[in-house]
Amino acid sequence: MKLSWNLSFNHKHKHLVVKFVVAILLMGIALRLFFSTSTGYFSPRIEETPFPEKTVAAEQPISVQVPPDEPISVKVPQDEPIPVRFPQDEDQDQIPLPRKETPFPEKTVVSESPISAEVPENGQDQIPPLKGECDLFTGDWVPNTSGPAYNESCPIIENPQNCIRNGRPDTGYLYWRWNPRDCEIPKFDPERFLEMMRNKAWALIGDSISRNHVQSLLCMLSTVEQAVQVYHDKDYRSRRWHFPSYNFSVSVIWSPFLAKAAIFEDYNGVATSEVELHLDKLDRTWVDQFHSWEYMVISTGKWFLKTAIYYENNEVLGCHYCPKRNLTELGFDFSYRKVLSFVMDYLVTSDYKGMIFFRTSTPDHFENGEWFNGGNCERTAPVKEGEVALKEVHKILRRIELEVLEKAAAEASKSGVNLKLLDLVPLSLMRPDGHPGPYRHYHPFDHDKNAKVQTDCLHWCLPGPIDSWNDILMEMVVNG
Ligand SMILES: *[C@@H]1O[C@H](CO)[C@@H](O)[C@H](O)[C@H]1NC(C)=O
Ligand SMILES: *[C@@H]1O[C@H](CO)[C@@H](O)[C@H](O)[C@H]1NC(C)=O
Ligand SMILES: *[C@@H]1O[C@H](CO)[C@@H](O)[C@H](O)[C@H]1NC(C)=O
Ligand SMILES: *[C@@H]1O[C@H](CO)[C@@H](O)[C@H](O)[C@H]1NC(C)=O
Repeated sequence: MKLSWNLSFNHKHKHLVVKFVVAILLMGIALRLFFSTSTGYFSPRIEETPFPEKTVAAEQPISVQVPPDEPISVKVPQDEPIPVRFPQDEDQDQIPLPRKETPFPEKTVVSESPISAEVPENGQDQIPPLKGECDLFTGDWVPNTSGPAYNESCPIIENPQNCIRNGRPDTGYLYWRWNPRDCEIPKFDPERFLEMMRNKAWALIGDSISRNHVQSLLCMLSTVEQAVQVYHDKDYRSRRWHFPSYNFSVSVIWSPFLAKAAIFEDYNGVATSEVELHLDKLDRTWVDQFHSWEYMVISTGKWFLKTAIYYENNEVLGCHYCPKRNLTELGFDFSYRKVLSFVMDYLVTSDYKGMIFFRTSTPDHFENGEWFNGGNCERTAPVKEGEVALKEVHKILRRIELEVLEKAAAEASKSGVNLKLLDLVPLSLMRPDGHPGPYRHYHPFDHDKNAKVQTDCLHWCLPGPIDSWNDILMEMVVNG
């Protein structure tokens, strides 16, 4: 498969590094904003979704307006001190992705690049083609009048992704179908899928995009039979559902690093210290149970951009963005490559008998800024291939993913492990219209049409473009 964008970025490296560091500084306050806006979203309607009701801290430097109808709209303070603290919340996936257009002050905070490894300029822009015929990941979005497979009444949709219910005015984004260039893929057939999955189990493992994805899958399946939630962890991040007539289980496993990580937070969900990431230990939340699943969809990525201290053999090895500590800056690319390689080595040398999908980490679409400084996503239709570029940081993550996965695929074919690349980046990149934007909030402009609300151009509306991910998954399961 050809990737349509150019992965070369070395010449922008230094520029990028500085911006990235400044962006990190800005991240603290923005995360607090995002965190505070993410409380109280879960309507009583969804009884089984009581996300921890973390209240907005009393000393929060944010003025909060609570309109009659529950959701919280937040006024963005203009000049706040920048706390470099990281609230621990699922929405923390909102990471700052520096981009050329963002005029960050050119502070030279670091003298050395936090991006340690020089990524080779040439090579690996190519994904090894799927065995056989059709490349499912190269194609176009074509208009289709049939519309989504389910609607906003699906009880599994979490409120911040329920764009229709939240009052998103346009609906055009619902009427597109992913059309691979060399073949047609049938629409997801929930009945057939459930029949195929009788007495089996799936797990989607990763960060909040995996949770977004599992909601889509469950809603599509729930048109045949309601899923029953049978497990949740304390924070409702890892959950399992069961389809009783089919004895089929679907789990979502919260493991944003896939490796062992200690994340520190106080009762407000505000982290008091850097993530402690063990590069040589896998996260037991998935490792301890993966043999019980016939299918795994694994993903990770964005959390590696966070401030973190890296450990190996329980000893500090270095860090990513920790200027206050006298530690070696290793860069997120270092840890990402290391952990991802470790995970893949582990899997391809396991005697796992099921099917493993590695989902590439999908892009955000903040335009005219980033998520913390007024970036938005106001498009209402897909773009053509190449019209929207992958952001620099994302290119780095992507390059690592493709390199590691190419190696892993070669190993897997030797060891007989069924590993598949689910490369949803190209098709997702063409859907800047698929995000909630301000409609992560319930009717954000009902009371003030100029209300300033936190936008979400990272997660996806449900129903929405990521429903097509399941069309593709089904095709791969049926034929693979
Ligand atoms: C949404 O879907 C449900 C179940 O399929 C159906 O009963 C309901 O009428 C639909 N609602 C709308 C607004 O289309
Ligand atoms: C819409 O897509 C379905 C398959 O997903 C196809 O059968 C149907 O013909 C399409 N309709 C139009 C109007 O293109
Ligand atoms: C249900 O499926 C699980 C595997 O997911 C299996 O262990 C169990 O035996 C099945 N139960 C029945 C009643 O078939
Ligand atoms: C930082 O660490 C290095 C090497 O461990 C040491 O030589 C140096 O004195 C330390 N600097 C400070 C300010 O602690």
